[in-house]
Amino acid sequence: MKKARVRLGKRSYTLLIGSGLLKQTGLLLQELGFSDRAIIITNPTLRRLHGKTLLQGLDDCSFKVSILEVPEGEEQKSLETAGRLYRELTNCFAERTTPILALGGGVIGDLGGFVAATYLRGVPLVQIPTTLVAQVDSSIGGKVAVNHGQLKNKIGVFYQPKLVVADIAVLKTLSDSALSDGLAETIKYGVIRDAEFFSYLERNIEKINAFDERILETVVFCSAKIKGEVVAKDETDLGLRNILNYGHTIGHAIESVSNFGISHGQAIAIGMVAAAKISNRLGMLPNADITRLKNLIARTGLPTELPRLELAGLTQAMKHDKKVLLGRIRFVLPRIIGEVFITDEVPISLVEQVLLGG
Ligand SMILES: NC(=O)c1ccc[n+]([C@@H]2O[C@H](COP(=O)([O-])OP(=O)(O)OC[C@H]3O[C@@H](n4cnc5c(N)ncnc54)[C@H](O)[C@@H]3O)[C@@H](O)[C@H]2O)c1
Ligand SMILES: [Zn+2]
Repeated sequence: MKKARVRLGKRSYTLLIGSGLLKQTGLLLQELGFSDRAIIITNPTLRRLHGKTLLQGLDDCSFKVSILEVPEGEEQKSLETAGRLYRELTNCFAERTTPILALGGGVIGDLGGFVAATYLRGVPLVQIPTTLVAQVDSSIGGKVAVNHGQLKNKIGVFYQPKLVVADIAVLKTLSDSALSDGLAETIKYGVIRDAEFFSYLERNIEKINAFDERILETVVFCSAKIKGEVVAKDETDLGLRNILNYGHTIGHAIESVSNFGISHGQAIAIGMVAAAKISNRLGMLPNADITRLKNLIARTGLPTELPRLELAGLTQAMKHDKKVLLGRIRFVLPRIIGEVFITDEVPISLVEQVLLGG
């Protein structure tokens, strides 16, 4: 097992990463001072695949557990579903001290986190992320939210968990495409912060694709540690945390113009390559680094080139991105692998040229 700490003063917490942690959750909760009750928020898939192991671990430590189930799907990240969960929490007599365990991917983590943050003005939250995206990204950093109509993550707060338990063994039941979606974020961490980690990914990508638990433990640990360090320096996303958006300016636009037919991981993979090319055309990132990035992304099964999408729609979508400042599109660009800079000085003609394959 590996441990990292997100240092936020009184709101600091530990990230635990290792195989078989799910059945130790009871003990881990006891170490935090919880001892009698816990509420699990999850979906039917996770309940079927991993619920029993988690329940066993809690039962071994005599926890009385209620399970609140939410149907599958991004559309469940809504105020309606939150409202239903508040009623169920009241029905099962949840108190200010009753921890909520969010067992699932980013949807359950964001929704369960939002409910924990708001019910009774905040009850303790434990994130138990089960996708690679959730283990390396959404469970860390305290951004919890629901969608509002078509607007993603519009209603939310910053609310840090008490603990994050990332059990590597649960990743075995993920589909290949869910794994590669998460790998897009791990590659991002290498590019923005850690050249050595990027090389580690290059050396081990075949083992990662084959779900090698030992290697995955290191991959999740290094990624989670980087995210935790960035969050610790900029909890409320006013400065450094922006670098986590590398690949996301173009990526979000691709997702939106494709009507979410292109997954988040695929879109940011294309976005990361495009941002790398923009940097190169501005005289920064060397050609060799673009080649390394493209090769690594391709070996995860993710795309590196833009499929046929309408260019005008893409640039329009980018201008609507929440990172736009005074009408200028802000880009996170790699200077070299392991280091990025932020600029709003990229001419739109250069963005279009790169997206067209120039
Ligand atoms: N809060 C943040 O900082 C942050 C960061 C990134 C993404 N997000 C949010 O996260 C969400 C996406 O999260 P996601 O990619 O984890 O998707 P997800 O939560 O929708 O999960 C994807 C699918 O995988 C299934 N699944 C989860 N774990 C599994 C397992 N171990 N085995 C088999 N199937 C499993 C789920 O039931 C679901 O069908 C989006 O809503 C996004 O906005 C939030
Ligand atoms: Zn992302």
